[in-house]
Amino acid sequence: MDLYEYQARDLFEAHGVPVLAGIVAQTPEEAKAAAEQIGGVVVVKAQVKVGGRGKAGGVKLAKTADEAYEHAKAILGMDIKGHTVHRVMIAQGADIAEEYYFSILLDRANRDYLAMCSKEGGVEIEQLAEERPEALARVNFDPNTGIDAGKAAEIAEQAGFSADEVPALAEVFQQLWTAFSQEDATLVEVNPLVKTGEGTIIALDGKVTVDENADFRQPGHAELVDEQAEDPLEAKAKANDLNYVKLDGEVGIIGNGAGLVMSTLDVVAYAGEAHNGVKPANFLDIGGGASAEVMANGLDVILGDDQVKSVFVNVFGGITACDAVANGIVKALEILGEAATKPLVVRLDGNSVEEGRRILREADHPLVTLATSMDEGADKAAELANK
Ligand SMILES: Nc1ncnc2c1ncn2[C@@H]1O[C@H](COP(=O)(O)OP(=O)(O)OP(=O)(O)O)[C@@H](O)[C@H]1O
Ligand SMILES: [Mg+2]
Repeated sequence: MDLYEYQARDLFEAHGVPVLAGIVAQTPEEAKAAAEQIGGVVVVKAQVKVGGRGKAGGVKLAKTADEAYEHAKAILGMDIKGHTVHRVMIAQGADIAEEYYFSILLDRANRDYLAMCSKEGGVEIEQLAEERPEALARVNFDPNTGIDAGKAAEIAEQAGFSADEVPALAEVFQQLWTAFSQEDATLVEVNPLVKTGEGTIIALDGKVTVDENADFRQPGHAELVDEQAEDPLEAKAKANDLNYVKLDGEVGIIGNGAGLVMSTLDVVAYAGEAHNGVKPANFLDIGGGASAEVMANGLDVILGDDQVKSVFVNVFGGITACDAVANGIVKALEILGEAATKPLVVRLDGNSVEEGRRILREADHPLVTLATSMDEGADKAAELANK
């Protein structure tokens, strides 16, 4: 789960990382009150989970509370790369002497942890990373020892900081590591990490991703979820304990077992090339016990997606045999009644496959087509989605 900047700020503060005052506001009036409370120059910052807010006009300096009001009025409701701004953060203005870049991430490709640092931070960091990668220090480290004093100094030195600059930076790097590890994060990025006119180091922006697999030991993370911004279909799936991810295509997918569903996505994407480029609309794994109720809940979520034109149900009977799954589909269609409006292609294989197919043939539901193989089913579903 990605956090908003104001959530990252609060989390940094809780772990001793130096940050400036910041108050979140949902209306221009609240923004004005926040600016008055903070006092002096403030910065009005759009709270969206996407980078490049500054360049998009979502970060504006305000010298007075009235100016903060006007900026908030302009920024609230703005669209930044497809994200609507529902909140702004009123941040205390910093006297910036230098802008640096620092991040810690789980380096999945190298199965390692990585810290990155540059003396040239700020809004052009992507360009820097592309054009002059040598200006971005990359230091891998062992998560068991983390970023201790020695490692922190090494990172600062590799980024080209001089000996007198290293200690203050190294301290902040260690605090950021504490935040990263104690919050079970997979990303902590500070851009810019600034040096003020007085020489203090402050985290002025924060991007944090926390690992949802650690939710069981991070009870505090539940309140970071933004229900307003959550995809309504994903929220519905979550409420029904379904493992669902919304994608962009037209072919709804239901399968049992994450591996089978993943390969179904591949096969449908491939089959779609011959049918006007239709693509999978979602990932949905209904798991091992594909009861009628689970099947109905799954179908209900997928059919609720306006983009979906056809559905491919791809089930391999194991502990839950195909006859149970077939009964589940028949019952699910009964439960859904009029709500089921889109063609369903069903491919069953494995335990009790003949019995499962017989049940579906006998039910003879007008929306259901039986497929004998995964490739055939994918092709049929793609064809129906393209109609
Ligand atoms: N509190 C502040 N005081 C003064 N200037 C600020 C403050 N916050 C941000 N800025 C300025 O605005 C710029 C953009 O801000 P910030 O990095 O928060 O937004 P961003 O556009 O999301 O950045 P990114 O490209 O990293 O996503 C900073 O590089 C900094 O120069
Ligand atoms: Mg930034």
